[in-house]
Amino acid sequence: MHYLTKIASPETLTTQCLILGVFDGKQHGSSIDRLPATPKKHIQATLKKGDLGGKAAQSLLLYGVPGLKAERVLLMDLGEQKSFDAKKLASAMGGAIALLNKNAVRDCALMVPEESADMLYAAGRDIAISSEEQLYLFDQCKSKKNRPKKPLGKLTLVVKERKQLNTLKKALKHGTAIAAGMNLAKDLANLPGNICTPSYLADTAKRLGRKSTKLKATALTEKQMQRLGMGALLSVSRGSREPAKLIVLEYRGGKENSRPVVLVGKGLTFDAGGISIKPSAGMDEMKYDMCGGASVFGTLQACVDLDLPINVIGIVPSSENLPDGEANKPGDIVTSMAGLTIEILNTDAEGRLILCDALTYAERFRPAAVIDIATLTGACVVALGHHTTGLLGNDDKLADELLKAGDDIHDPAWRLPMNDDYRKQLESNFADMANIGGKGAGTITAACFLGEFTKKYKWAHLDIAGTAWKGGHEKGATGRPVPLLTQLLLKRCKLAE
Ligand code: BES
Ligand code: MN
Ligand code: ZN
Repeated sequence: MHYLTKIASPETLTTQCLILGVFDGKQHGSSIDRLPATPKKHIQATLKKGDLGGKAAQSLLLYGVPGLKAERVLLMDLGEQKSFDAKKLASAMGGAIALLNKNAVRDCALMVPEESADMLYAAGRDIAISSEEQLYLFDQCKSKKNRPKKPLGKLTLVVKERKQLNTLKKALKHGTAIAAGMNLAKDLANLPGNICTPSYLADTAKRLGRKSTKLKATALTEKQMQRLGMGALLSVSRGSREPAKLIVLEYRGGKENSRPVVLVGKGLTFDAGGISIKPSAGMDEMKYDMCGGASVFGTLQACVDLDLPINVIGIVPSSENLPDGEANKPGDIVTSMAGLTIEILNTDAEGRLILCDALTYAERFRPAAVIDIATLTGACVVALGHHTTGLLGNDDKLADELLKAGDDIHDPAWRLPMNDDYRKQLESNFADMANIGGKGAGTITAACFLGEFTKKYKWAHLDIAGTAWKGGHEKGATGRPVPLLTQLLLKRCKLAE
């Protein structure tokens, strides 16, 4: 969708639909107050009937409102004025956009409520993100596309003062880049495992690399990984006919000598569990086990779109995890690139096996910080559900930075503890460590495993097992945590306001 900004009074706007925010379902709010007497009276009389707000309708679509050039008016309930914020405005707008997109409305205009004047950046950004979320459609694999005949293609944000235009333009640019990154992540994740293979991801990375001279994409082959000694990663892909890839995206937008932020994303394109096979119910959802990698792609694409002045490296170890005569067996011992030996007590704890070698590989980029993103543990879904990402790591400042970025952009994370007591759960009688930590604290012991490979730099781990996709009738990828990661980078560039 196209986003425009404008200064105008509501009665002069020629649009197919003028969107006005209303507080408490009643007649007030700046958008109503700014109307000339004739349309104002009409709208107030309509609102008096009480159909809008509270448990009633979230929006009302009016036709033929006198004294306006707009063909329609959408009255959008913004809830209580005292608890109003950018998130509420954006989610109400999401609802409005979804409704108008279904109708024959191609262009609309929002009178940005003056109540959002002191949060205009967040409001503009969040409106773009939530509008794009509503317009997102994944029908690549359907032979009959069921798209709206007259899709919504234009939203104009109308403000009062000239100086607000610049803030809003910047906010919309950031919001649309983040949304496009989320859409890329969603598309990759929603694709099935037979299409989105490690090679498909590697090709996608190369396609991204062609978008900008600042972005370079490469993919290591199994042979190259072998030479590097990536015995843990390769042990997972040995049970699959699809060759593993170690995908590397290098975005150089910052000073040549400035240390990069390295993002490492789990790119397991299908996780059947291997010999420790998963139950069959719901196993299709394990095509989403590459959502960490997809979020790295999405974030790097946003870096390109925003031309961020920072260096960012994306590393995506990618493989399948299947049962096979050559697959890992419980009790097998493999040697990681770092030299640590690992006893594989459960072949379904494969994410950490591919990540540990990628995390060792990350050392060569002299990282300012390394953040890994992975659908790592079912235990994280038990602990935090589908709302909050699990955060662990070895650096308090980096962890706080991530928490703050997540809160800013409504993509929240919550930190869990890590210490020696948990690490000891990984002790093995036969190797340097086991790949599982036994009963209790599955998310923490998984992070402790990764922590053995991240001692040389500042590191944080995001467990997105609960937040990367939704199940049930809403089944689909969420694009998280692209917002969180992009916000962190924007803030490092001092651009997020
Ligand atoms: N990809 C899964 C984690 C997962 C499970 C994500 C359910 C989302 C929903 C991961 O590879 C896995 O299988 N983890 C095991 C670890 C266990 C064997 C220690 C798990 O969580 O059951
Ligand atoms: Mn698994
Ligand atoms: Zn997995």
